[in-house]
Amino acid sequence: MNILAFESTCDETAVSVVRDGRTVLSDAILSQADMHALYGGVVPEIASRKHVEAISALTDRALAEAQLTRGDIDAVAVSYAPGLIGAVLVGVSFAKSVAYALNVPLIPVHHIRGHIAANYLAFPELKPPFLALAISGGNTLIVDVKDYTDMEILGATRDDAAGECFDKAARVLGLPYPGGKPMDALAQQSKGGKYDLPRAHVSGSELDMSFSGLKTAVVNLAHNAQQKGEALDEAALARDFTQAVSDELVPRAVLALRQTGRKVIAAAGGVAANSIIRAQLEQACRAEGATLYLPPLRLCGDNGAMIGAQAYYEYLAGNTAQLDLNAFATMDLNETGF
Ligand code: KG4
Repeated sequence: MNILAFESTCDETAVSVVRDGRTVLSDAILSQADMHALYGGVVPEIASRKHVEAISALTDRALAEAQLTRGDIDAVAVSYAPGLIGAVLVGVSFAKSVAYALNVPLIPVHHIRGHIAANYLAFPELKPPFLALAISGGNTLIVDVKDYTDMEILGATRDDAAGECFDKAARVLGLPYPGGKPMDALAQQSKGGKYDLPRAHVSGSELDMSFSGLKTAVVNLAHNAQQKGEALDEAALARDFTQAVSDELVPRAVLALRQTGRKVIAAAGGVAANSIIRAQLEQACRAEGATLYLPPLRLCGDNGAMIGAQAYYEYLAGNTAQLDLNAFATMDLNETGF
């Protein structure tokens, strides 16, 4: 089954063709990050407008790279929640038009389910049940993937997402948006151990997380140093900050493995590209005797292929929508909006 999949929830316009949920035939992506970097973060209206401009040409490119014609497409999938609403609406409207024109089923896909499904593309042997640590720019979740379309949230951030925290910390260090990747490079230049940053604990809820205190601590630290005219050891701060994020994530991932008795965990989302978090997850899972799946870097960030992968399983479960499908800015990954 060839699924034409659309992703436009933030600042990447992406169109992909995926066969039977596991094989990527094409994966066309246009990132707007350079444009938003001028403003230090994503400007929602610019994001929507850039999606409008790019999505049609990217669709042609995705079909050409897959060496398919429109008649070879069996279904259309779209990331319909959560995200910047104007941006999501572009993908949803376009996908609906394509499904209408081709007279094929329309499959709505939750963006975070898509991130988790990126692992199916990289690891053919991976099948539920397993745990997922979904760490992106807008979400931070520990999920029990009981089946392809049956998921339970075991833990979540109570405030900011890990990626949002990376981006804000990077900004006060003068690094470009999106800040995760340059923070990663900077952190690798230091062993850290210089700055004492907070670790959050959500009482009564061991698997929940919080990043806003850490974000504020880094912002205050940088501003105080600036006001006093003191130089910051930026590499050490990046390293200590990353360690604080990792300390929020890795022990909770291990705890979730213990609590559920699962032996397999997959990472997902842009922050799963972080080299220090990857290494510490590997170490912790090895010590725990658990199998860890870490998607290749190109599948960690937003892409259309992950939407096409999850869409196949949504289709098999009967989760198709009519052409009155709407877009949603927020939605839990075990809810549906159609
Ligand atoms: O999954 P993603 O591409 O978009 C969302 O669905 O949100 O994640 C983007 C986030 C950004 O906050 C970005 O700074 C972060 O992932 N990121 C990283 C790294 N690469 C991207 N964070 C830490 N280390 C990285 N190497």
